[in-house]
Amino acid sequence: MTSPQTFRIKSFGCQMNVYDGERMAELLAAQGMRAVGDKDDADLVVLNTCHIREKAVEKAYSDVGRLRRDDGSKPLVALAGCVAQAEGEEARSRSKMIDMVVGPQAYHRLPQMIRQAAAGRPAVDTDMPAISKFDALPRRRRTGVSAFLSVQEGCDKFCTYCVVPYTRGAEISRPARDILAEAQQLVEGGAREITLLGQNVNGWTDASFGGLATLIRSLARIDGVERIRYTTSHPINMDEDLITAHAEVEELMPYLHLPVQSGSDAILKSMNRHHTVESYLRTIERVRAVRPDIAISGDFIVGFPGETDADFEATLQIVDHVRYASAFSFKYSPRPGTPAATMENQIPAPVMDERLQRLQARIAEHSSAFNCATVGKTIRILIDRVGRKSGQMIGKSPWLQSVVVETDAPIGSLLDVAITGSGPNSLFGDLLVRAEAA
Ligand code: 5AD
Ligand code: SF4
Repeated sequence: MTSPQTFRIKSFGCQMNVYDGERMAELLAAQGMRAVGDKDDADLVVLNTCHIREKAVEKAYSDVGRLRRDDGSKPLVALAGCVAQAEGEEARSRSKMIDMVVGPQAYHRLPQMIRQAAAGRPAVDTDMPAISKFDALPRRRRTGVSAFLSVQEGCDKFCTYCVVPYTRGAEISRPARDILAEAQQLVEGGAREITLLGQNVNGWTDASFGGLATLIRSLARIDGVERIRYTTSHPINMDEDLITAHAEVEELMPYLHLPVQSGSDAILKSMNRHHTVESYLRTIERVRAVRPDIAISGDFIVGFPGETDADFEATLQIVDHVRYASAFSFKYSPRPGTPAATMENQIPAPVMDERLQRLQARIAEHSSAFNCATVGKTIRILIDRVGRKSGQMIGKSPWLQSVVVETDAPIGSLLDVAITGSGPNSLFGDLLVRAEAA
């Protein structure tokens, strides 16, 4: 096979994968390769996979299978991301379509792997090298108005249901210096909002610098950084300094994604979450004390092994107590190699289905109440895409709601709008004054 001229990267799963996909694209572009559209034929296809829930592996292999072209030929295929990390060499024996297997910590080596694979020698790299991949990646160039920036990877918490500690490895924080330099590049490339990413982002630390709150304060001082967000946080890493930053740093948006997973202490213990319902609620109270308008979002798992009706009712109670602005909820999915997969009292599928439906209905009520409460207010939005109807643009509120507004202001504009209505997926606003040109 000759060396590839064009490539296409498809990312699944979390925002960290989206970020990794962008960095891989930049890396390949720096090698002189050209990105093509989602549906276009490419010489190289990278599937950047997610392993978090069931059937992830089967899905990855069936996606690989579908890459064969009608004439029987195939592109160079790289399996990347968390399925690649988990499968390693095994991937090659399961599908001969796969030429490269590259884990999330090794993708800076893609250029060499591509050369090797193009010469007919498959390449597998799932190392977690001590040298940061970030040092080997090209600098950031053009980005969207809202950019992701990975600051921390991996997880040492070992929740008993979760594969992340195995696929992403131990918790590692990038040095502050590198993050601030990348933020500067993102701003120069057009970003006005930066979302700091990490599996345990609020556990980020740089011994000679400080914790996440210090990092956020430094980012806020960079000219052109208008908005800062961070996700995902663990309740036990929500320290006083970070909470105070929510009161003091204007650029830090009033939004906190703080997964609780369950409202039952017995289940939280069995999940090895290191927090209780009470300690979680106390954290929420402290955050709300300094930032009363903050939008709280969360993650829930229903049907964890041993979850009784009473445990599930306790989850509904915590939802009512916190009044989540939004939340993701999942049916428990046993992941091979994790402790929960072999626990007794696995919950039957119909029970999980019913619980998930009730939980989602309850979350939707609170989410809709949260959105309705915005109607009548004047808020500032950051335009990030074109609306469906002509003359419409869509922007994000500080609380991460999508707001549809009629305007000719370009993407990247900050606008003050009066919220006039609330629909199932977005708010509607009338333009007041142009807060600032893009
Ligand atoms: N089953 C169901 N949901 C899971 N999550 C993580 N692992 C599992 C699993 N095995 C959910 C958690 C986590 C989110 C990213 O995915 O709620 O916060
Ligand atoms: Fe998984 Fe728990 Fe780590 Fe989150 S904190 S990545 S749920 S092990």
